Amino acid sequence: LETKKRVPLIWLQMQDCTGCSESFIRSSYPKTESVIFNMISLEYMELLTAAAGFQTEDAEQNVLKKYKGEYVLAVEGSVPKEAGYLTIGGRSGEDLLREAAQNAKAVMAFGTCSSWGGIAKAKPNPTGAQPISAVLKGIPIIRVPGCPPIAEVMTGVLANLVTFDQLPETDMLGRPKAYYRHRIHDKCNRRAYFDAGLFAESFDDPNLKAGYCLYKLGCKGPTTYNSCAELRWNGGVSYPIQSGNPCIGCSEADFWDNGPLYTHF
Ligand code: SF4
Ligand code: SF4
Ligand code: F3S
Repeated sequence: LETKKRVPLIWLQMQDCTGCSESFIRSSYPKTESVIFNMISLEYMELLTAAAGFQTEDAEQNVLKKYKGEYVLAVEGSVPKEAGYLTIGGRSGEDLLREAAQNAKAVMAFGTCSSWGGIAKAKPNPTGAQPISAVLKGIPIIRVPGCPPIAEVMTGVLANLVTFDQLPETDMLGRPKAYYRHRIHDKCNRRAYFDAGLFAESFDDPNLKAGYCLYKLGCKGPTTYNSCAELRWNGGVSYPIQSGNPCIGCSEADFWDNGPLYTHF
């Protein structure tokens, strides 16, 4: 990596909550600092860019021209179809996204919002929120879903791109196989209890603490593809199910509408 040129990165924030950015800056392996100082050159990102206003928008325009075909585009948040809901520097989200994606070396949808539409797309979807694939028809997109995605999955995908100069192998939905090949249920620490037919019956059931399966509490692990049960969160400390909360399927499309998120409240 010492001899490799840092790859310019533009990170667009569309209709988002900044949760994906917040997750990104907490990566443990590789450390976010190492990614930013050694692998990529973070040219534009609302959360971390020091400049503001026209200065920032000018900086983005310079990168789009100077590094045509060389920069990577990461997108967080969904894109509204309805006019007036997302305007940055006087331009619509759709317009900005099309422009930035046009000459990108790779386009990455970081998070469930940019991958599938996310919370803004939940019924009744007043803004006409759509995933970036609906706007960028014909442009290949690497989907890194999760609400937010695990930090090490985002930095891992970037590290792979910079180190090997190639896109990761993806499944038919565009998700990197290395991180989305298993269902949470396949690697879950409570799986033995599921197989034995031992289920927590309520959130205050003492068996929940003892490790019983959370299926009866609405766990979506059997239909959710993500790395939580393998990589875990906060540098490998835990993940929702280990901490006693059923998986709500946050990396899957329309998970807000395919609820209930919790069945026993
Ligand atoms: Fe926020 Fe989740 Fe959307 Fe990321 S995917 S911007 S964390 S709502
Ligand atoms: Fe499967 Fe969820 Fe039970 Fe884990 S807690 S074994 S993911 S149903
Ligand atoms: Fe999301 Fe389920 Fe993981 S809710 S964080 S995919 S355990």
